[in-house]
Amino acid sequence: MSDYINSRLGLKLFLSYLVVILVGVVVLLIASQFAVPSAFGRHMMGTGMMMGNGQGQGQGQGAGQSGAQVGLSEFRLSFFEALKYAAFAAIIAAVAVGIFFSRRVIAPLRAVMAATQHISDGHYDERVHVDGADEISQLAAHFNQMAEKLEGVESMRRRLIGDVAHELRTPLTVIKGSMEGLMDGVLPASSETYSEIHRETDRLNHLVDDLQELSRVEARAYQLDIRSVDVSNLVATVVKRLGHQFDDKRVTLTSSLPRDPMQVLADEGRAIQILTNLIGNALQYTPSDGQVSLDVSRVGNEAQFLVKDTGVGIPPEHLAHIFDRFYRVDKSRSRQNGGGSGIGLTIAHHLVEAQGGRIWAESAGESKGSVFAFTLPLIK
Ligand SMILES: Nc1ncnc2c1ncn2[C@@H]1O[C@H](COP(=O)(O)OP(=O)(O)O)[C@@H](O)[C@H]1O
Ligand SMILES: [Mg+2]
Repeated sequence: MSDYINSRLGLKLFLSYLVVILVGVVVLLIASQFAVPSAFGRHMMGTGMMMGNGQGQGQGQGAGQSGAQVGLSEFRLSFFEALKYAAFAAIIAAVAVGIFFSRRVIAPLRAVMAATQHISDGHYDERVHVDGADEISQLAAHFNQMAEKLEGVESMRRRLIGDVAHELRTPLTVIKGSMEGLMDGVLPASSETYSEIHRETDRLNHLVDDLQELSRVEARAYQLDIRSVDVSNLVATVVKRLGHQFDDKRVTLTSSLPRDPMQVLADEGRAIQILTNLIGNALQYTPSDGQVSLDVSRVGNEAQFLVKDTGVGIPPEHLAHIFDRFYRVDKSRSRQNGGGSGIGLTIAHHLVEAQGGRIWAESAGESKGSVFAFTLPLIK
């Protein structure tokens, strides 16, 4: 019962009005109990003296009747006098109880208001203490959730700026160093020096492209053209597109599909992008003479794509972060391998989830190869 009352602000307000009225009435009754007799006594004493005088002048019956009238009017006078005091006491009690209740109702609202002000001043760690279960407490709980999200977004923004600045610094330092070397004549003006500079500007270009794509994907500022896509066509396109790079690095790429045709509900271009990304990574992190395989199978009402490689693998402590933006297991190795900035998997993660699938990574550990898997909803 008390839980029910506690969870409803309207009922609480109604009951508090009721309590204020009851307190007023009770105080009025008690006060009048004390005030009426004493006021009546005082008034009767006054008229008693007057009446004694009248009777002394021998006005018999007429005097008795007017005595009753005087008694009634005295009673009325004394009653109103008593009521005045009692009502005063009742009003004071009602105001006190009213203030107490309204403070209790207003206090959490004030807390939310103060917290809002704090957050708009940039203190994103502000939270409201939630007590009870009524609408105001729910508002406070929702407010806390919102504050938590804002804090998350704010820290992500800070981290992103820090990460981007860090990513830009390395190639810029190399370019600047090479240019200074050229200008001072320390570095020879050879094609090697120029191609070094070219490689770094290329890296910057890639980074900017990746960042642009990431911001588009994270803000969902892109259209998905979801339709029925034939899985064997999808696999054939990707294998053909990446075939040359595999041949160049002498890594074999194999693929396998179930015998019966499979149709997934997906955006073909985006599905190709995800596969290209995962298979491209597998190639990048697999040394020559290694193997990469793409296996598609039917699991429940989903198509499961498995990209396995025999490459460098991922130590278990890194697996949980592999889809975070800018996350690279080994930054220097990634740079030497011509790797990107750790955004590719973040984009793939977003794209898979936007199409109603899941993505995950497995690895037995360093140099034990990796498996990247994702699902897409099946039509049949
Ligand atoms: N097939 C793989 N084998 C081993 N490590 C991988 C593989 N794919 C991704 N990684 C690790 O995950 C990190 C993030 O991948 P990704 O987002 O594609 O960034 P990058 O641009 O560095 O390739 C890589 O830096 C690498 O450390
Ligand atoms: Mg990559």
